[in-house]
Amino acid sequence: MKITLAKHCGFCYGVKRAVEMAQACVDPAKGKTCTLGPIIHNPQMVARLAEQGIDVAEHLADIPSGTVIIRSHGVGPEIYQKAEAMNLQLVDATCPHVKKAQQAAYQLAQEGYEIVVVGERHHPEIKSIVEWAGKPVIVLETPAEACAIPFKPRLGVVSQTTFAGELFQDIVNILRTKCNEIKVNRTICTATELRQQAAILLAGQVEVMIVVGGKNSANTTRLTELCQQAGNKVYHIETVQELQQEWFKGIKYAGITAGASTPDWLIEEVYNKMQEFSEMFGQELKELETGSIVKGKVAAIRKDEVFVDIGYKAEGIISLGELAYPVPESAYEAVTKGQIIDVLVLNADPSEGGIQLSKTKADKIVAWDKLEQAMTNEQTVEGKVIEVVKGGLAVAVLGIRGFVPASQVDLKFVEDLTSFLGQTFVLLLIEIDREKQRVVLSRKTLLLKEREQKEKEVYDTLAEGQIRKGVVRRLANFGAFVDLGGVD
Ligand code: F3S
Repeated sequence: MKITLAKHCGFCYGVKRAVEMAQACVDPAKGKTCTLGPIIHNPQMVARLAEQGIDVAEHLADIPSGTVIIRSHGVGPEIYQKAEAMNLQLVDATCPHVKKAQQAAYQLAQEGYEIVVVGERHHPEIKSIVEWAGKPVIVLETPAEACAIPFKPRLGVVSQTTFAGELFQDIVNILRTKCNEIKVNRTICTATELRQQAAILLAGQVEVMIVVGGKNSANTTRLTELCQQAGNKVYHIETVQELQQEWFKGIKYAGITAGASTPDWLIEEVYNKMQEFSEMFGQELKELETGSIVKGKVAAIRKDEVFVDIGYKAEGIISLGELAYPVPESAYEAVTKGQIIDVLVLNADPSEGGIQLSKTKADKIVAWDKLEQAMTNEQTVEGKVIEVVKGGLAVAVLGIRGFVPASQVDLKFVEDLTSFLGQTFVLLLIEIDREKQRVVLSRKTLLLKEREQKEKEVYDTLAEGQIRKGVVRRLANFGAFVDLGGVD
């Protein structure tokens, strides 16, 4: 089993720096050393720090003398003043990115802006930014909340460092309609995004993904959800003891990622344990069966054939005709070296011209499995419009031809469907028959749901006395119809 670690995982720069600063300042001769609140959301790491003489204090009053360490989330100015008044030594491990957000809030407040902080209102980092603003602040978590604020002359906006970039932009777009002047400080740090992107990439290349991190850590839970979207098995564990050998039986490629509060030594323990499992399984070389679907890694490519490592004593071969549909001119167009693919074993006997494999047949079987699963779970699928046919559109869904009846294409009936050619739709399956090779889908059902959701959002945030921007859609003798973003 090949075990790969995500390119970005575990401690981010700010947390690593805070832990190192804490470890460096322990000096029993100078009295107690405490972090103000747990330095990270990882019980194992907090326990290890306690062994090294670093305790957790919830309040300054709990540290009569010695050193107080400000964790990476930061604190408001009052804590610095109090610590000084109490004669405590202060080690400021606030992450420099958080410091930037605090200073931005302070600066905007000085310039007379009404401050908006975008982020989770109960998060300690947000509390610290709010305190640095030094005056009442508007905290927003969702676009709906942004819609509900009253009009202000000047808004100064700051974000939580770990806030999702797209959501922040949505909120800012709404805020632009809520003021005459806006100054935006996008104080988002890229560490979270990089970790998530690396996890998504790796999850798509392995069969089993292990996510290491606290069960109550929001960023680790999010990593698990993102990895699950790749469709392979994902296990979220907190410690190495939770790893189970059976998860890796028959597995050739496994990946590891870890949340921002997971220390390196914990990740290493997990890696080593998986390596042990791998060595145990390595001794039982599994039999290859004709007709089975296995995962393999593209080992070499020639113009008209591809060699695949399927963890067997000999590599398998895919001929050009079994590689993709329509058959490509060259194998280089269809796969890349190192890519993990599903293959169907056409002939498992290496003495008869080598182990023959088919990617097209395996893809088809896997695609039908996925479609059936999507139908059962009412999940959406993506489909590209490939042809206008009698009564609707032909779409390619996971390489399988599907049909969207004209009545299910849009909210209103569209006479000429040619303008949809080449477009990719998000669709819901409404009928599927593997034997008859029949797949029927609807786009309209999803558009209706979306419209209902938009209407609900508008009604939920609409209140008498608000000033709202809208688009005049239609004039009648008795008045004008104004679109308020989904509702006339
Ligand atoms: Fe700092 Fe970004 Fe980590 S703000 S604490 S480096 S997630």
